[in-house]
Amino acid sequence: MEFERDHNTSSSSLPSLCKQLASSTLRGSLEPHIPVVDLSASDEDLVVRAVVKASEEWGIFQVVNHGIPTELMQQLQVVGKQFFDLPEAEKEAVAKEEDFEGYKRNYLEGIKAWDEHLFHRIWPPSCINYKYWPKNPPQYREVNEEYTRHMKKLTEKILGWLSEGLGLSPVALTKSLGGEMAEYVIRVNFYPPSPKSELALGAAVHTDIGAITLLVPNEVPGLQVFKDEQWLDLEYINSAVVVIIGDQLMRMSNGRYNNVLHRATLDKENLRISWPVFVAPKHDLFVGPLPELTGDENPPKFETIVYKDYLHQTIRNWTLDKLPLY
Ligand code: OGA
Ligand code: NI
Repeated sequence: MEFERDHNTSSSSLPSLCKQLASSTLRGSLEPHIPVVDLSASDEDLVVRAVVKASEEWGIFQVVNHGIPTELMQQLQVVGKQFFDLPEAEKEAVAKEEDFEGYKRNYLEGIKAWDEHLFHRIWPPSCINYKYWPKNPPQYREVNEEYTRHMKKLTEKILGWLSEGLGLSPVALTKSLGGEMAEYVIRVNFYPPSPKSELALGAAVHTDIGAITLLVPNEVPGLQVFKDEQWLDLEYINSAVVVIIGDQLMRMSNGRYNNVLHRATLDKENLRISWPVFVAPKHDLFVGPLPELTGDENPPKFETIVYKDYLHQTIRNWTLDKLPLY
């Protein structure tokens, strides 16, 4: 999800609390696997088909051989971890104020929420607020800027394939998100080991509000997705990028692509960190089923509304909905 998660709840549009409670995570040889797509396969049509199928059936997949240098991904993780290892007072230098950007400590009521995070825009340059980018470690900015360039390229490539899957021109989805003005925001989720890991979640059950999320986790498992009435673990693959379809791609595709329900569990002994980059439409754009995809035979399944309004409505629902996390 994209914005504040302090009220760790499901929105009214999310499945019932039972699903949060359902700890019946399916494990073992029968467990279906979240798809993995090798982007270096020589036949691009096969790649497109695999990405489209995974987005329809799962709404989540991992990509390998994606072109982002492994070393850069490691550097991203090193500078992120170095920031969280700073004394609290130094982290407070980039503390969240009234908006969503900045550093926030979130160990509410002992176990209801258990994370710290750092949130800041990374694209477009005109929206970046460097006030929320850590000055320490000193390489933080350079590494994140380099990572942004790669992230944007990979995102646009995937959006191109997803556009093709809808029978549209490869630039259709990127354009509908505002082209160069589409917004990219990184969130560094820092989930320390939790003695009450069975009771608390690092990230409550949710779908991501934006269009698409590209996430890199450290090696500690925790991300789970809900499929066929079961929670499934994401298997860690070194240097892979996890792609998550968000609400807006589901809406724009008139329901063809699945906004996957997911959550993050905590580990008893190990520190888990994840680096999602959320890609969202420019805030004042109207977003809804693309007109090319709808007609008499295919009526729009979703309302077309200004993204900013969708965002605020969803956050308001999370906030009003006082369900506890567990
Ligand atoms: C998120 C999210 C999962 C994770 O931040 O929206 O789903 O693995 N995070 O941290
Ligand atoms: Ni999410």
